[in-house]
Amino acid sequence: PTVLLLNGPNLNLLGTRDPEQYGTTTLAEVEERVSALGKELGVEVVCAQSNSEGGMVDQIHAARHYAGVVMNPGAYAHYSIALRDAVDAIEAPVVEVHISNVYAREEFRHTSVTAPVAAGYMAGCGVLGYELGLRAVLARAAERSS
Ligand code: DQA
Repeated sequence: PTVLLLNGPNLNLLGTRDPEQYGTTTLAEVEERVSALGKELGVEVVCAQSNSEGGMVDQIHAARHYAGVVMNPGAYAHYSIALRDAVDAIEAPVVEVHISNVYAREEFRHTSVTAPVAAGYMAGCGVLGYELGLRAVLARAAERSS
């Protein structure tokens, strides 16, 4: 099985961007850790990052036959109906991950338009959320195929 690890806008700057919120781990390190966990669990992890809405929509479409998607939509979570529709359009389960506790932050981060169509949602667990997200999406995929 294959899982897409998809990161949205500004997450390419992970490690240096606002470390109080997002920590000091880089995106490359996150991708390495999730891929290593995938190896341990017998799944291939394909990693992608896009700073554009259409780029993320395209990545989700391309993953429609995968076992699932672990996605940090970044700020698009708060307002992108296009991203929500893409998540809704594919059969594969999508688990949404936010590194920071968005509920402890500005009010505009408290809404996620993508969460209602996601198979799972996680926020505030730091970059560990990506590894938890991989485990969660595999559990969701297994439930669906049983
Ligand atoms: C984020 C939270 C979003 O509000 C923000 O726009 C991001 C990162 C997180 O991982 O905590 O870019 O998705």
